[in-house]
Amino acid sequence: ARRVVVLISGNGSNLQALIDAQQHDQLGGEIVAVISNQPDAYGLKRARDAGIDAVALPHREYESRDAFDGALIKVIERHEPDLVVLAGFMRFLTPRFVQRFLGRMINIHPSLLPDYQGLQTHARALADGVSEHGCSVHFVTEELDGGPVALQAVVAVAENDTEATLKAKVQAREHLIMPIAVKWCLEGRLRFGPKGVTFDGTPLPPQGLR
Ligand code: GAR
Repeated sequence: ARRVVVLISGNGSNLQALIDAQQHDQLGGEIVAVISNQPDAYGLKRARDAGIDAVALPHREYESRDAFDGALIKVIERHEPDLVVLAGFMRFLTPRFVQRFLGRMINIHPSLLPDYQGLQTHARALADGVSEHGCSVHFVTEELDGGPVALQAVVAVAENDTEATLKAKVQAREHLIMPIAVKWCLEGRLRFGPKGVTFDGTPLPPQGLR
């Protein structure tokens, strides 16, 4: 089976969506390890409950970003993944780390990239009065939240939406597109190479598949 390593920092609701998909034979592979830089992340419990190897790698115990990323590379490579999935992993990554897994690492971000890179995406979208918001799965490159988009889901912003309601709506879509993106990557349908992101060999537009 194809092998997936998932990196998290917190709740792990996207991880849960991947676990659920796997349990329904809809992931196209197996989550072989979950790694968190936050030792108390709830997602680690989700992994253990599903019988998945759960690893806490507290970044605070490393003296530099490079030392942490080096340790992270070692743990990941021990599990020989076909795909590395960042699911709410809230750490900047060094170029060395990104290069190591280039084309084999995806991230989920709570906005319609390239809009609202960084944090507080829902609050900023609301403040701007946008009518559409959403989430993106993208391949990870050295540019933070700037890698090419593979998949997006769009939600309509309602007049009475708050940060909390908008976040809930977007997260429901994250849980929908994350397992699909993983499956298509593992099947080799979704690729990131010299021609950019392709689906079944056809280059995708900047917003990816919607
Ligand atoms: C998700 O909403 C994800 O889009 C976001 O963190 C949340 C993690 O939730 N990621 C980022 O903001 C990345 N910059 P989860 O732990 O419940 O999956």
